[in-house]
Amino acid sequence: MTPSPTRILTGITTSGTPHLGNYVGAIRPAIAASRTPNVESFYFLADYHALVKVQDPARVQRSTLEIAASWLACGLDPETVWFYRQSDIPEIPELTWLLTCVAGKGLLNRAHAYKASVDKNRAEGEDDDAGITAGLFMYPVLMAADILLFNAHKVPVGRDQVQHIEMARDFGQRFNHLYGEHFTLPEAVIEAQVATLPGLDGRKMSKSYDNTIPLFVPRDQLKKLIYSIVTDSRAPGEAKDADSSNVFQLYQAFATADETIAMRKAFADGIAWGDAKQQLFERIDAEVAPLRERYELLIADPSKIEQQLRHGAQRLRARYATPCIAELRAALGLRALDLQTTSPAKATGTRTTLPLFKQYREADGMFYFKLHDGDGRLLLQSHGFKSPKDAGQLVARLKAEFRQLHDKAEAGLHLGEVLIGTLAQDVVVDDVAQALESLVIEAGDA
Ligand code: TRP
Repeated sequence: MTPSPTRILTGITTSGTPHLGNYVGAIRPAIAASRTPNVESFYFLADYHALVKVQDPARVQRSTLEIAASWLACGLDPETVWFYRQSDIPEIPELTWLLTCVAGKGLLNRAHAYKASVDKNRAEGEDDDAGITAGLFMYPVLMAADILLFNAHKVPVGRDQVQHIEMARDFGQRFNHLYGEHFTLPEAVIEAQVATLPGLDGRKMSKSYDNTIPLFVPRDQLKKLIYSIVTDSRAPGEAKDADSSNVFQLYQAFATADETIAMRKAFADGIAWGDAKQQLFERIDAEVAPLRERYELLIADPSKIEQQLRHGAQRLRARYATPCIAELRAALGLRALDLQTTSPAKATGTRTTLPLFKQYREADGMFYFKLHDGDGRLLLQSHGFKSPKDAGQLVARLKAEFRQLHDKAEAGLHLGEVLIGTLAQDVVVDDVAQALESLVIEAGDA
């Protein structure tokens, strides 16, 4: 029997024209991954996400077409992978709301993109939330819905998106905790060798820095752009540092290991910037030229792509999205009024009574705390404290410590230090970690 396939899911926001950074960081590795055996791939155009950034309808439409054509040109095969447009799947915004109702607002406050906007406002002396839409704030929840709806195992992303995957895990976990095991918790996958490319000015290649090299510009324009890459002023013959050079980093993203070694040597030997750029240009064009040809054919016939996308969404909804939402609605209580159900605890099988911290005073006049798990088993028994405040502080510290380490494997380790002398008989640190986990999740402030 073959094991069930790994589901890999990739989304690209339709807010711009695909550039080499998108190609190297997302499109190319995702398409390669889709060809590994026993993988089920999901590729989609995140056009709802685009609305957060772009309020120009023509640009959203154009970008959606360009990105769809790019993926197809790069070898995406809609017969063997799921290829769809986010806004063709109404179950995604529906799930977004269901997740919104379990998502911690405090967690969303810490999202990098939102925080960066707040910081910018503060720096400019504006109100914290000036000009910030709720769409930007909710962006991670929408993204979690994209991922969780299809129970994706792996999500290839750039480093800047890792936090979003962690949030998706968090929302999924909270949902599972409350309503039973419905969601697979996804993992971020970052391509080890080159996850992000430098742009023309050396900063990360990104639309927002306006330093990109579009993937499918004509050959002569590609050459012009590559020649415009900013370098230092070292003369021909002067040794150049490969690792700090954006020309080298770009080259490496397209070259084989041997070619990269040769280029590194050429840098040490003082290759002229013009020659390095010429080689970089030829290397990139060799890979891109055949794709560019296909791209131009595709983009000339938008109705064909439109059909492919609709067809993909239809099949995908029938196979996954519609049944999944039906199951979730029932689990949440959005169900037929005449439906007979068992009690929630039995229905989900996961929820028992919560663990409980108790603080109390003994006859010796000292203050103590203990922790019982949901079944009443004693997990922790503190020594005596002189004041109730001291006992309370240790309890607070335990919870805080755990909250910080929540989700990280080393939680047990650090907890162990705090717990010395407090563990009840036959109790291991993991038992306590589990109890704290459910308390933290319940408090909604992990
Ligand atoms: N936020 C992603 C980006 O800007 C795009 C995206 C939306 C996405 N939904 C997703 C990526 C789901 C992976 C999975 O790159």
